[in-house]
Amino acid sequence: MIPDDVIQKVRERADITAVVGEIVTLKRAGASLKGLCPFHGEKTPSFVVNPQQGTYHCFGCQVHGDSLTFIKETQNLNFPEAVRALASRVGVEIVEEKPLRPEQRAQRIKKRALEDRLFEAQELLTQWYELNLKRSSVAQSYLKSREITTESAQVFRLGWASDDVAQFMRWVREHSVELEDLITLGVVIPFDPNQPDKRGDNRLNGGRLRFRNRVMCPIFDIRDRVVGYSGRVVDPKQKIAKYLNSPETPIFTKGDQLFGLKSARVAMRSNKVNQLILCEGNLDVISLWQAGFQNTVAAMGTALSERQANLIKRLSPAVICVMDGDAAGQAAAFKSLPTLLAQGLDVRGKLLPLDQDPDSFIRAYGARSFKEWLSDAQPLILVKLQAIAKQYPRDPIGQAAIVKAMLPLVQLIKDPNQRPLFLDIMAKEIGVDRSYLSERLVDSYSSSQGDRYSMQREQSLANRNAHTHQDHHPQAQVNDQGGGATKNKRTLKKELKDRPWWANVAIQRGSIRTKTRHFGDKPKGEADLKIAPAPQPPRSLQVSQELSVSAVSLFGYEREAISTLFYSPSLLNLFLERGHLEYFAHSGVQRFLISLKQERDEGRFATGEAFFKTENDQGLIATLKDCIAHPPIQDEKIDPERALNDLSKRLRLGLLQSQLNQTVEALKQLSQTKKSHDSDSNDVLNQQRQQLLESYQKTQAQLQELLHPLKTS
Ligand code: UTP
Ligand code: MN
Repeated sequence: MIPDDVIQKVRERADITAVVGEIVTLKRAGASLKGLCPFHGEKTPSFVVNPQQGTYHCFGCQVHGDSLTFIKETQNLNFPEAVRALASRVGVEIVEEKPLRPEQRAQRIKKRALEDRLFEAQELLTQWYELNLKRSSVAQSYLKSREITTESAQVFRLGWASDDVAQFMRWVREHSVELEDLITLGVVIPFDPNQPDKRGDNRLNGGRLRFRNRVMCPIFDIRDRVVGYSGRVVDPKQKIAKYLNSPETPIFTKGDQLFGLKSARVAMRSNKVNQLILCEGNLDVISLWQAGFQNTVAAMGTALSERQANLIKRLSPAVICVMDGDAAGQAAAFKSLPTLLAQGLDVRGKLLPLDQDPDSFIRAYGARSFKEWLSDAQPLILVKLQAIAKQYPRDPIGQAAIVKAMLPLVQLIKDPNQRPLFLDIMAKEIGVDRSYLSERLVDSYSSSQGDRYSMQREQSLANRNAHTHQDHHPQAQVNDQGGGATKNKRTLKKELKDRPWWANVAIQRGSIRTKTRHFGDKPKGEADLKIAPAPQPPRSLQVSQELSVSAVSLFGYEREAISTLFYSPSLLNLFLERGHLEYFAHSGVQRFLISLKQERDEGRFATGEAFFKTENDQGLIATLKDCIAHPPIQDEKIDPERALNDLSKRLRLGLLQSQLNQTVEALKQLSQTKKSHDSDSNDVLNQQRQQLLESYQKTQAQLQELLHPLKTS
């Protein structure tokens, strides 16, 4: 059994556009995308994908669903299989749940019942706080002083928690709410027998009310349920925390929620705005909402968590961080930057004037000025670049420090088309060569990924050794991570299904061929395994017929290498880790492979669409698609190290040979140059000749070393 929260996570992380885009060519239509429905034949598109909601709907045949149902239907899988297929793409690890024992089942039912009860109590409480807000003159005058309208108080369901225990107890009795549940919700702090001096009210069995004389801002989850509160003091003289939040409860984790989520979702759905505003304070969210910026959320004083960034991503592809006008405001935004970039968001940011926050800015200058002020917000990564650039002198030590701080951020940018543009700006700002940065980028890429991948490999090896008691045949490994040793029919079949389609192609093709071969002691079940024909690459990856572009000229071995690397993700990882990328002479191919790996790491665009979408060279695109359209025939039993070695060797060989040819060509031309009577220019010619000869010998030596490694060592 796959746990519910894992399914949920897979659903949240999956990008419906990418999932559907593998099969259907989608065109943007406003906030949604349109294409030809894959479930019924049609000539005009009526199949609509809504990236915000992560759903699709066909107005022709009325099918609808999400990424999971799409994979399930198009790949003919059952639900758990679809979850597994998608999970591996979006990088969610599935830890299987064993079928529940009766007592576990009972426990789970109990847990669900508790959660239901807590939600219900929280809702009743929220209604009560709302009612109290209307009655309390203190609360009303506070709202007035902050210029919060009755309408926004209603929308945000603001409330008032007084310190009147008698009144509280009356409410508890009237609604027969359990004190125990209120303790679980953190509304009542229970008496701690270890701290007898902190005894509170007898009516609360010695406990205390957590929220006293505070304006209550409910926090809504994605399903619009109140999960907790953020309570603000109204008396500035009180020397206590300005905001008090609900503690962690079975239904509330602060880092999982965003303040303003509910109202922002409404705003984003209206399609009038295309970016989300991320600010710091709850009151800022309310104030901006009133001023017409309903697309605003706040992170409630914590460093932005991955989960919060993911919530943002689900609302909008772009976000503007509005930073409070103090050092802390800027620091908080910079801290969130990698988390936001990692979600593939376009992140802009702007620092408010000193000591201002959005609320005070709007009150001082009005909504229109805010809009104007916001309109030229720069990419946050550039704001950070400027801030960091100020801190260091322009000498190698300082420059390297800036590069070190900035490159990992550039690396996180998902759109491969943006990265080079940022590098251009960075090179100018730091005062280094553009090529220096791009070299470092590849370096920092492989070194940052290296550890992760070797860890993953070790992990999967460890798992394998822990779970299988079968013999380990190294030659029986398939060319992908996690390839098991001796496999029986069922596990192999299951593994085939768990893999993304490009990996399956390699294995399935390989298996078809290996049937006629003998590979030592083959386990019995495997020999008669019937394997389905390799699937076609998705339509989006097939070269369009009408496209008449001049292809990029690549050698056969280069084409083969590209397709091998494409169909074997683990080989691609190794290839990049070992720094073999430079064996491809064409920089476009290099960029494609880096982007491909990155896309897969994110699990977003797993087949290179992102690169194809942003690449301008149509010839390159057509050539790459052509390589992909021809999956390599591979041995199922290939050893990844050997495969990598072969592939890199051939590429390097080709590179050296073409260098050699160039040198020979240059020498020929030189010999045809007429001898002059001027001895000076003859000297120059001789010098050139000498250099070419040296380079010829050097390349030749490298070539020999590559061809006959034993002779030279
Ligand atoms: P701010 O101090 O910027 O909050 O803190 P604000 O909403 O603008 O408050 P006003 O305008 O003074 O009323 C930013 C956020 O940090 C969290 C709250 O979520 C707040 O909205 N915070 C702040 C706390 O949790 N506890 C605190 O004591 C202070
Ligand atoms: Mn404020």
